[in-house]
Amino acid sequence: MKVLLATQKPFAAKAVEGIEGILTGAGHEVVRLEKYAGQADLVAAVADADALIIRSDKVTAEVIAAAPSLKIVVRAGAGYDNVDLAAATARGIVVMNTPGQNSNAVAELAIAMMIFMARNQFNPTTGAEIQGKTVGIQAFGNVGRLVGRKAKALGMDLLALDPFLMPEQIASGGAEPVTTVEELYRRSDYVSVHIPALPATIRSIGYDLIMKMPKGATLVNTARKEVIDEDGLMRALEDRPDLKYITDVAPDNYLLLKERFGLRVFATPKKMGAQTAEANINAGLAAARQIAGYFATGDTRFQVNR
Ligand code: 3PG
Repeated sequence: MKVLLATQKPFAAKAVEGIEGILTGAGHEVVRLEKYAGQADLVAAVADADALIIRSDKVTAEVIAAAPSLKIVVRAGAGYDNVDLAAATARGIVVMNTPGQNSNAVAELAIAMMIFMARNQFNPTTGAEIQGKTVGIQAFGNVGRLVGRKAKALGMDLLALDPFLMPEQIASGGAEPVTTVEELYRRSDYVSVHIPALPATIRSIGYDLIMKMPKGATLVNTARKEVIDEDGLMRALEDRPDLKYITDVAPDNYLLLKERFGLRVFATPKKMGAQTAEANINAGLAAARQIAGYFATGDTRFQVNR
């Protein structure tokens, strides 16, 4: 089978080597499309692909329509909001993710972001320490739990909210469970966002919620920009000069935010939460194994479009 590794943001060389090793060893052919300029390149490259490995690359209905042989798409990572699931499902294409494989990298970045903002973006003014502060973890999944473990080791108090977990499950992960998102924001010096981008969560973090945060609080977003109501965020930063926002995905209004709020806001130039050699290897190799397994035995364990 022909497997297209389409990564606009390429994996580390070691990960690519590992992916190629697994797939060629299983009798498949690997073709690479890296650092491509636009969607048209992806549309052209999928023409004869049987399988696709992607990162945040956009697998739209147009891409799927241009790939008549496509049988499986594996998102090497957690969030699969970049794949048109309905279009894939309509064609009988299996879509998988590789849950947990890049979580540690994202969790480490979330911690780094808290410290970076506590120290005024490493500007030599008097900052603050995160020890003794409370972090509210919004969604206690693979990344949220790891953020909790690391934050606890740094002396922070943990709160967590997760509508899919029982309070005891949150408590067993070392955090105090809270029952409403308002309580989470009201009680947290830092809120670390780990919710997926879904119709119910898109733009769900807005003015009212952000305004509930205590004095000097920081909102840390290593999830998706779409979960933030950007106008609401802007108004909250305007009305509350003590609040800060840091994100791994630049909001659409970032230039304006930066201009107005300076060191109180920061966005990475390109999403970098999962951009470590270790995460690339973990997620990339898992994706390759999942494709090899699917073609060898029909294994659909990590399918997300059943
Ligand atoms: C994920 O959902 O796994 C992360 O957002 C990582 O995305 P990336 O592979 O584009 O870095």
